[in-house]
Amino acid sequence: MAEAAERPRVKYSVQLTFIGIFFAFIAVSIGLLNTYPTISARDSVFAAKQGALSGQATVMSVSLSALEQLSGDGVEQVMALVDVGDFDLVVVTDRAGLVLYDTDSLGDSRGTPCDYPQVAAALEGMLRFDCHYTGSAFLSTVAAPVMSYGSVIGSVYIYEEDGDQAAIINSIQARLRSISVIAGAVTLVVIVFFTRFLTRRLRELVDAMRIVQDGDYDYRVRVRGGDEVSALGAAFNDMARRLKSTEELRRRFVSDASHELRTPLASIRLLSDSVVQSEGMDPGTMREFVTDIGTEAERLQRMTEKLLRLTRMDAGIAGEKSTVSLNKIVGRVTHLLEPLARQEGVSLYTEKNGTARIRASEDDIFQIVFNLTENAIKYNVYGGKVFLRVEAAKGSAALTVEDTGIGIPEADMPHIFSRFYRVDKARSREAGGSGLGLSIVSDAVAANGGTISVSRRETAGSRFTVRFPLWTGEEEME
Ligand SMILES: Nc1ncnc2c1ncn2[C@@H]1O[C@H](COP(=O)(O)OP(=O)(O)OP(=O)(O)O)[C@@H](O)[C@H]1O
Ligand SMILES: [Mg+2]
Repeated sequence: MAEAAERPRVKYSVQLTFIGIFFAFIAVSIGLLNTYPTISARDSVFAAKQGALSGQATVMSVSLSALEQLSGDGVEQVMALVDVGDFDLVVVTDRAGLVLYDTDSLGDSRGTPCDYPQVAAALEGMLRFDCHYTGSAFLSTVAAPVMSYGSVIGSVYIYEEDGDQAAIINSIQARLRSISVIAGAVTLVVIVFFTRFLTRRLRELVDAMRIVQDGDYDYRVRVRGGDEVSALGAAFNDMARRLKSTEELRRRFVSDASHELRTPLASIRLLSDSVVQSEGMDPGTMREFVTDIGTEAERLQRMTEKLLRLTRMDAGIAGEKSTVSLNKIVGRVTHLLEPLARQEGVSLYTEKNGTARIRASEDDIFQIVFNLTENAIKYNVYGGKVFLRVEAAKGSAALTVEDTGIGIPEADMPHIFSRFYRVDKARSREAGGSGLGLSIVSDAVAANGGTISVSRRETAGSRFTVRFPLWTGEEEME
């Protein structure tokens, strides 16, 4: 009995793999979508702020540089003319960094040192800008030196806190977040449905394979659509169909073979029982019985030899190929079958045109010529004729076996190459046939790259024609 095949289990579902990959992909996309636009918006706000504040600081510093010497009152007067209302803090210091002017209304810082690092940088003659984003506001500072005749006489410091731009960026970010969450959720639902549909179809296929594996060769999967899974289903159905026909052939072969073997075995049994049971049988009758047993045994031997040959051919075990002369084989076969032809009152005629050499297994070609000629003699009439004609032309070597015998009815023609098929069972059995000869012929023809055809002869009998590619190589003949 065949060992039960282990059924593969699904370890990693296609659906889960798909969803996993999708999740990773969506996580990366949402991450990028939520950081990249914010960063670039922030950078452009930084640039805008730098331009605006630096411009303002320069305007103030140029206005103050007209004073030559910075004093509290002088600065106050100049600053009154400049618009400082938009900023959260504006400070003007003298050269030593002491505060001369301060828009901070809380506490009077005049005369106190200003310790902002930006101011220190400005007193050294540099324009310094800093901007910082807290998440809810942009904090920007700028400090510019006040110059007079090429030397620093003080500095201007501006500080601004901008919550509006930050609010815009935050609202864009919030919108992007909700859009990506909705898009992610919708895609997830679609992916779940799609993969469930796909895995259901694959599961249907796996189930169908198991059903067929269990022996129900008629089971078919439903093929819908035109995608790869449908193609897989169609290929599977086709395979199941072939499996069914192979299985049927195998069953029929086994049953036919046992049936064929049973008849001679039963005869042997009957004959031997008769010999054993009838005491005092005269030696003449006894010899007759034993001869019959021998004939039946011989038939069994021939049949098993033919079955073995067919099995070897089925397994693809090909005979070794060499350069074979059709004329030579025809000569050997006619020599061997001459006694049978004489016994049946049939005359053999051969006609050889040209050297028909082919590349084939010599044993296979012998089987072909022998079986066809033997049939032509066996299924003939007393006084009938058999013609064997070999021709080599147009790149092919042909052998025609023609007889003037009983012929094959049109309806039986398609079946005569099937195993155990006999047109007239009684006649074939009488002639010692088993219905395997032509199966061997057709298998051997195919194994050697040839073709075979059969037709009725115009007046009476049949004509078998076998064709092979002509061998024109230089190889030595054995
Ligand atoms: N030349 C022929 N003329 C008439 N009938 C034929 C001829 N050749 C074959 N047949 C028919 O085809 C059947 C199948 O032939 P095949 O050679 O396969 O088997 P067989 O001759 O009966 O047995 P085996 O060849 O195994 O001894 C034969 O039984 C016979 O009825
Ligand atoms: Mg035969």
